Amino acid sequence: MNRIFSGVQPTGNLHLGNYLGAIRNWVRLQTEYDCLFCIVDMHAITVWQDPKELVRNTREVAAGMIASGVDASKHIIFNQSTVPAHAQLSWIFNCVARMGWLNRMTQFKEKAGKHKENASVGLYAYPNLMSADILAYKATHVPVGEDQKQHLELARDTAQKFNIDYGVEFFPLPEPLIFGAATRVMSLRDGTKKMSKSDESDYSRINMADDADAIALKIRKAKTDPHPMPDGVEALEGRPEASNLLGIYAALADQDKAAVMSRFAGRQFSEFKQELVDLAVSVLGPINGEMQRLMADPAYLDGILRSGAERADAIARPIIAEVYDIVGFLRP
Ligand code: TYM
Repeated sequence: MNRIFSGVQPTGNLHLGNYLGAIRNWVRLQTEYDCLFCIVDMHAITVWQDPKELVRNTREVAAGMIASGVDASKHIIFNQSTVPAHAQLSWIFNCVARMGWLNRMTQFKEKAGKHKENASVGLYAYPNLMSADILAYKATHVPVGEDQKQHLELARDTAQKFNIDYGVEFFPLPEPLIFGAATRVMSLRDGTKKMSKSDESDYSRINMADDADAIALKIRKAKTDPHPMPDGVEALEGRPEASNLLGIYAALADQDKAAVMSRFAGRQFSEFKQELVDLAVSVLGPINGEMQRLMADPAYLDGILRSGAERADAIARPIIAEVYDIVGFLRP
């Protein structure tokens, strides 16, 4: 059976990259797969989180998923810490994955920066928890943005090493699903940097919670270059901001980038930006409205998460019991 698992960190500022790179694709895949969509609060605390904010952000991500069209009655939305399997399996994977594999993870290097000695142990072991998330449900497919590809390769290596070490064919090797015109949305302030929740400048990203005025302002202020709109793929060379804005337009309009480029070739950025504002507001406006409505009803959101946790736990519990038997953990 094909099963999807994917996750988002509740670290605030759910943004357009999360939507176009991941959540929108989830909505499209939910007709073909059984899905688990997880708010990964245990991943979030690998860097400091204010406890009250973490609670609020957890509900906000749930609201964002539902407002984007995830069907919580057919699929499972839950927060990671409610299901013990994640912590249980991640410890076993800490003992399967090798230091050398984790040392190669570019996300750790980026996040730990120059102060590696000061980073939490959790930040280093983060990819093992991610492998556990996926494999505790024997998920076969994982829709993510481009930046998670390396972590998924590690999840595949870990599943394979577990199977070989214990002489079993137990875990599937999960396949990444990375598709759409915006698998890597870049910052609006610097087209060479990924759009990210943690960028200091709020002008670098469009948040899913932004209203129409904020979206318009951010797009108008987005960095461009002095040339007119490019007129072919080669003309994008060395123009990361133009490339990024065209990619965002194409993804929001559900067209390919080449078609969008030929439509705007030679025109001024100001004209293009006005059309991008209209498009972004027409797609994100209704989602934003629905998010606000849901956020005003935390009891409803908590009910969805509670039911999701029960259903997720029912899938993972027997899988973890089998893993314990395979590993030789006595269950007296
Ligand atoms: P997170 O919370 O950073 O991002 C959530 C999803 O959004 C995608 N994404 C982007 N896509 C395109 N352009 C961007 N600028 C951009 N920024 C983020 C991410 O690729 C991701 O799909 N480690 C994961 C969460 C996680 C997970 C998992 C994912 C934990 N366990 C298991 C899949 C399966 C993360 O930090 O995502």
